[in-house]
Amino acid sequence: EPSETKLNFDLVEDAVKHIQTKAKTQPLIGIICGSGLGGLAAEVQDAVTIGYEEIPNFPVSTVAGHEGKLVFGTLGGAPVVVMKGRLHCYEGYAFSRIAVPIRTLCALGIKYLFVTNAAGGLNESFEVGDLMMLEDHLNFPGFAVQNPLVGPHDDRYGARFVPMSKPYDRKLRDIFKQTIDGMSMAGLHSPFRTGVYAMVGGPTYESPAEARFIKSAGADAVGMSTVPEVIVAIQQGVKCLAMSLITNKVVLKIDDDNEPNHAEVLEASQARQPDVQRLFVALSKNVKEA
Ligand code: 6GU
Repeated sequence: EPSETKLNFDLVEDAVKHIQTKAKTQPLIGIICGSGLGGLAAEVQDAVTIGYEEIPNFPVSTVAGHEGKLVFGTLGGAPVVVMKGRLHCYEGYAFSRIAVPIRTLCALGIKYLFVTNAAGGLNESFEVGDLMMLEDHLNFPGFAVQNPLVGPHDDRYGARFVPMSKPYDRKLRDIFKQTIDGMSMAGLHSPFRTGVYAMVGGPTYESPAEARFIKSAGADAVGMSTVPEVIVAIQQGVKCLAMSLITNKVVLKIDDDNEPNHAEVLEASQARQPDVQRLFVALSKNVKEA
């Protein structure tokens, strides 16, 4: 059996070589856009766009609301690369394949990774449209050995055993909070939340019993992404910041007739998208200047 991570290293090198023939700026920040939040890519100045399908070995996203483009340029003056279109484990990609685009961004030299996602709210004080900064996460797939670092180890990426004691960088969280506080008068109405994000595999949404279980484990929001990318970035020494947009309330009781669906998720994220865009432009500027 071939060494999956050795294979990955070569895959990443090919991707990097192709990208460097097109994008001439070195990004400081990588940004992964969640469902319905890809509009941030249109805010990038002096944009150079590369479709995933033209990058050797890049997996292609198949989900509505995820287009599949890397956009290089600047946001708020900071050099960035935006991933418009993310890959999910439920599409059938192995966790180690999901790692390829992240390792590619790391190889391109990013120092920071910002990740957004659409998530269901478990915390009963959360409303649809709220923004939640992640303080910590629960990697449910990880309990079943579904982790992007499973497989043969390659030293070139970092440690075999990676601490997750601080998945989300404190300094970035402080800057994020300051950025939000600075914007509250400019129309960012919904309250700013912090909390714990639980990743589940999907693609089914939670049954009420599962939702209560996840909530009782300490989660404030639940979704199907983010954690694998953050794990890979942290292994490579890249500092992470992540934010959930609460697109629906998770059904906790069997007699509740609400049903989550992807159209509702996209609608809620699109409604909030202009605020999220402004926020990430300001955040990129503040992180660059910090
Ligand atoms: Cl309710 N559950 C999960 N797992 N992911 C979501 C969601 C719910 N709402 C948006 N994304």
